[in-house]
Amino acid sequence: MKIAFVGKGGSGKTTLSSLFVRHLAAVGAPVVAIDADINQHLATALGLDEAEAAALPAMGGQLPLIKNYLRGTNPRVPSAESMIKTTPPGEGSRLLRVREDNPVYDACARPVELDGGAVRLMVTGPFTDADLGVACYHSKTGAVELCLNHLVDGRDEYVVVDMTAGSDSFASGLFTRFDMTFLVAEPTRRGVSVYRQYKEYARDYGVLLKVVGNKVHGQDDLDFLRAEVGDDLLVTVGHSDWVRAMEKGRPPRFHLLEEPNRHALQVLRTAVDATYELRDWERYTRQMVHFHLKNAHSWGNERTGTDLAAQIDPGFVLSEAVAATA
Ligand SMILES: Nc1ncnc2c1ncn2[C@@H]1O[C@H](COP(=O)(O)OP(=O)(O)OP(=O)(O)O)[C@@H](O)[C@H]1O
Ligand SMILES: [Mg+2]
Repeated sequence: MKIAFVGKGGSGKTTLSSLFVRHLAAVGAPVVAIDADINQHLATALGLDEAEAAALPAMGGQLPLIKNYLRGTNPRVPSAESMIKTTPPGEGSRLLRVREDNPVYDACARPVELDGGAVRLMVTGPFTDADLGVACYHSKTGAVELCLNHLVDGRDEYVVVDMTAGSDSFASGLFTRFDMTFLVAEPTRRGVSVYRQYKEYARDYGVLLKVVGNKVHGQDDLDFLRAEVGDDLLVTVGHSDWVRAMEKGRPPRFHLLEEPNRHALQVLRTAVDATYELRDWERYTRQMVHFHLKNAHSWGNERTGTDLAAQIDPGFVLSEAVAATA
């Protein structure tokens, strides 16, 4: 199951991503956690110290390796150089699974021990000014999009992505790659305006969007969010002393997280799990083709000097069945 946490800067995306990852790890579920946010804080939220976090390999720096592995023997993608972030898989491509060892995880993922079990952590690497706001080929989140487009995930295994709600995610198809998108919103006008903008983009692509209220304190906050986002409000999280202690470098055991917040995490998981029945791999594949053509026209063809539409394998549909035979 692929889950994104998005929202305004400072709303609590990283905090809630990390709590959700801990929640999944605590029940022994396999998890890949990905930090694709502008401010890279997921590693420290998962308990790594600054030095450990700084030593994590950046996915953005491993693009040639990722591309070479994923293209496999796909004849439509004869070289890594011709592969852009939206190049879809086809016959011969290599697919990724949540539970396996592969060269992409070897290069980009590191195990993080949490209460209950280890998760894999991957980070895009810090963004520079040149990365922001442009739909160009070196966008850091391109590595994440490529991996998600080649990933076949099943029930009870999770990829959790901490990302921005910024325009970078709409320039590509990344925002359409998730079974569930949690928009983290504080009960403020700005928090809610990011929700409206995201909803607008999401509507045409059938993106499942739910609002998670954060730093919600009292009835007035709750009433505000309800009035502004209606039924899209899934659950709210209040101020957490557990999170504060964590931030002070004194992480308590996870089972000591406040009961209402543990309940909120369970609500998130239930909502995610319920989307499994709604999956539509054909639509998922069709959308990646759509965004590939869009990127090919706007910059990719020119950049690579080839007609990138030729990379599309018309008979290919990504699915769990395809992964079983690949
Ligand atoms: N429920 C909470 N209880 C206590 N502190 C919280 C809570 N949610 C977030 N915080 C604190 O608020 C700050 C911002 O949260 P966080 O870093 O998760 O936001 P973000 O959306 O990831 O921000 P950025 O846009 O900078 O990446 C952090 O110091 C975090 O510890
Ligand atoms: Mg963050």
